[in-house]
Amino acid sequence: MSMSNCTIIILGATGDLVKRKLISSLYKLLAEEKIEKVCIVGAAFEDETVENILERAKPFITKLNEAIWQKLTNSFVYQQLSFTKQEDFVALEKTVTRLEKKYKLSGNRLIYLAAAPHFFCEITQHLATSKLARKINDKKQNWHRIVYEKPFGHDLQSAHEINECIAQHFYEHQIYRIDHYLTKELVGNISLIRFTNCVFEPLWNNRYIDNVQIIVSENLCVENRGAYYDKYGALKDVVQNHMMSLLALIGMESPEKLSGESVAIERAKVLENVQLIDAVLGQYKNYTKEKAVVPNSKTETFAALYLQVNNRRWAGVPFYLKTGKCLDKKETVIHIKFKQVDCLLAKDCPSDSNYLTIQIAPEATFALSLNAKKLGQSSVMPIKMEFCHSCLFAEQTPQAHEILLYEIIKGERSISVRFDEIEYAWKLIDNVDAMNLPIHEYEPGSTGPKALETFAQKHGMRWRS
Ligand code: BG6
Repeated sequence: MSMSNCTIIILGATGDLVKRKLISSLYKLLAEEKIEKVCIVGAAFEDETVENILERAKPFITKLNEAIWQKLTNSFVYQQLSFTKQEDFVALEKTVTRLEKKYKLSGNRLIYLAAAPHFFCEITQHLATSKLARKINDKKQNWHRIVYEKPFGHDLQSAHEINECIAQHFYEHQIYRIDHYLTKELVGNISLIRFTNCVFEPLWNNRYIDNVQIIVSENLCVENRGAYYDKYGALKDVVQNHMMSLLALIGMESPEKLSGESVAIERAKVLENVQLIDAVLGQYKNYTKEKAVVPNSKTETFAALYLQVNNRRWAGVPFYLKTGKCLDKKETVIHIKFKQVDCLLAKDCPSDSNYLTIQIAPEATFALSLNAKKLGQSSVMPIKMEFCHSCLFAEQTPQAHEILLYEIIKGERSISVRFDEIEYAWKLIDNVDAMNLPIHEYEPGSTGPKALETFAQKHGMRWRS
């Protein structure tokens, strides 16, 4: 379906997110004619050119079609702007209005803040006073929607301050707090698979589930994001948002429906009941020598948490979370371990129980591991029943940011994270911070700090690899 036209304004257009994800997503939206006519206005502090910005993003596009690329280039405008200067926003507003007239665009505006959260409040104030974004409640008028990339703040208090600040200028329905993990195809599939099949729900509780492991492992180190990353670290960059979203989707009760706000309401109820039991933090060797990282930085690049969800469904089931940069592999995966059954075999009982493994990256797969009979013998061997999403839909699978942009243009609210979800997630991170944990060093390319072994022994658990 092709959408009505709009202007997409990207604040922070020279950053990593734009280079890696947003430009390729816009390219695909144009290629698939999901947006028929668009003007993209990038703005950032640097004196840059459209050509440079697009050239840097080119390697992230697969199967580039020159005609579409040209269309993207022709639709892209860049203007220098400081997030702290009101006059720059006034000038940008003039440019946007001029372009909208020139290209006969509708005046619908999507304003994407690809900026650090400490700028969110100030940028929002400038958007409102310059009228680059207006407070609009009338559905018959144009829409102006403002998108806030995660993390939303750096702790509970700053998140509250940002939220109060932006609520003074815009209606909630104009505000999109986003987490691109929620629009990954396979993540969207979690609730669908859970609630449209009857085989999982009866087992989805503390009677049958032994533990849940959520792993977001990255082999990339901080690359050129040292200035941002050093202020946030693994807990605020990935755990507070992406990993808590995954935990909430696994843990939630059945929502009224799988669209609109219903899912977010249920996600929030899980997060409200999350309790921190234990944690291990780490930093990879020579992290402090990375560009723009403080020389004696204590920022964690690795975190492992043991959490519990205190409600009837999950009481007593450990949720183990593990994430880090500069590790041995790139893998985003959820392992749901079922309890062991009594073995009725005379010998060679299965050494492991069943697992439901939801792998989000590098491949997208759902796999159920079962015990089955060994050929010609009465003992068992582990087998796998697998739905390989990547094998079936590899190239058609839209990227998370592509879905995000498309849904925001459509005005779909289910992809916006509610403030209460953010609040509960920050409470957890603030609790980890309050533990003042030591930061254990680990070798780049390893599986994490040695202290992880002590953590596993202490809790009688084993990380599934
Ligand atoms: C981003 C984090 O939100 O998510 C990055 O800022 C991280 O540090 C990235 O690398 C991971 O996303 P994905 O989609 O590559 O798993």
